[in-house]
Amino acid sequence: MDMSDLPVPCTPREISQLVQRDRVHGSIYTSQAIFEMEMRHIFHRTWLCVGHASEIPEPGAYRTTRLGTQSVIMARGSDGEVRVLMNRCRHRGVALTETETGCVRRFTCPYHGWVYDTTGELKLVPDADAYGRGFDLSAYGLTPAPRVAQYRGFVFASLSPEGESLDEHLGPAKAYMDLFLDVSPLGEIDARAGVTKTSFRANWKFVGMDGYHPNYVHKTVYDLRRRRKPVGSAKGESFSDESANLTRDLGKGHVMLDVYPVRKANYASYLQSMSGRPGWDAYYAAMVQAWGQERADEILVWAGDPHIGVFPNLQLIGSQIRLIRPVAADVTEVLMFPTVLKGVPDAINESRLRAHEAFYGPASQGSPDDAEIFERNQIGLSAVVDPWVLLARGLDREKVDVDGSIVGTITDETTQRGQLKQWKLLMEQAA
Ligand code: FES
Repeated sequence: MDMSDLPVPCTPREISQLVQRDRVHGSIYTSQAIFEMEMRHIFHRTWLCVGHASEIPEPGAYRTTRLGTQSVIMARGSDGEVRVLMNRCRHRGVALTETETGCVRRFTCPYHGWVYDTTGELKLVPDADAYGRGFDLSAYGLTPAPRVAQYRGFVFASLSPEGESLDEHLGPAKAYMDLFLDVSPLGEIDARAGVTKTSFRANWKFVGMDGYHPNYVHKTVYDLRRRRKPVGSAKGESFSDESANLTRDLGKGHVMLDVYPVRKANYASYLQSMSGRPGWDAYYAAMVQAWGQERADEILVWAGDPHIGVFPNLQLIGSQIRLIRPVAADVTEVLMFPTVLKGVPDAINESRLRAHEAFYGPASQGSPDDAEIFERNQIGLSAVVDPWVLLARGLDREKVDVDGSIVGTITDETTQRGQLKQWKLLMEQAA
């Protein structure tokens, strides 16, 4: 089937054929018609991460965001419950709030003054008599997202009333989310340390989970690190075919760059280098007390960084919760929330935040270069003379691990194939 002149729009089943075992058609990154199908059949159907409950600790606190293309408010009600409400007045549909975050006693629509409480109940309609005697305020509360569930404070929502449970959706990803949280001796994080935002003119599917690019896109960073610390940061060690690190496809589109092997090999020298640093000894002792020696060391080998992509819009990298917000086929927003740990010395959290700023901040070593390469990728894909994109790297050397995940070396495109396999499946199911 020659799909270089694929007519659009076409059916989800035809679109699913654009993802093959070893290659994908460039139009899945560039076509606005395909983007709209992605929104309908993936983002408006599966579970999406909305945020973390620690962002809204007190009653009335809220954050606005989007589920796919639909605006929602994640709010903690006066009853303490976290809800995800459609940001759409029940009168004529105006967005109730434009601010990203805040704390309110009520949401008042700016158009005609309808007032909702923080649980979404409609409390006041100016001159309500005009609607007649049978008008029932309780029938016009803010519409909740059809399904909302949490995993250890991560708030997820689905715009589909039916489908697998969040527990089923997350599957093996939960164990890696645990690592991200349990690097706190209390097992708790706080996501109110701010947010690093980036917006670029490229498709959302480019973001993250590529172990092939660091030595090239981030060459300057690695050269610098090598100069400062000749041992333990050489090109071959973390992101090359010689590395012991792995790419991992956990299933359901959840994938990770598994950097455990190299960190494990360097753990003794890491501990030695950290000993005596501000806050470290107290932190290490608290971790051992909380989790026991073996589990504490396991978590600290990972450094609380599972480097995982939870399909389709959540990534946990370093200390950050990263949310991917597609805007159009060629426009994406990425929000990176650095987190701090509860129950640790301030110095530990300060070093987490400085490390985040250094690599992911607006004038940092890493993130701006990623955005630049995504935009160049989008420009390149606008050439459709030879529209297929090769994703075959490592295909013939993949193995199935004892936990059932598919593993490749760190530079392999196991991660991209894993994400797009789920993309294809959801498109096929929509057919
Ligand atoms: Fe909200 Fe009229 S649209 S009160």
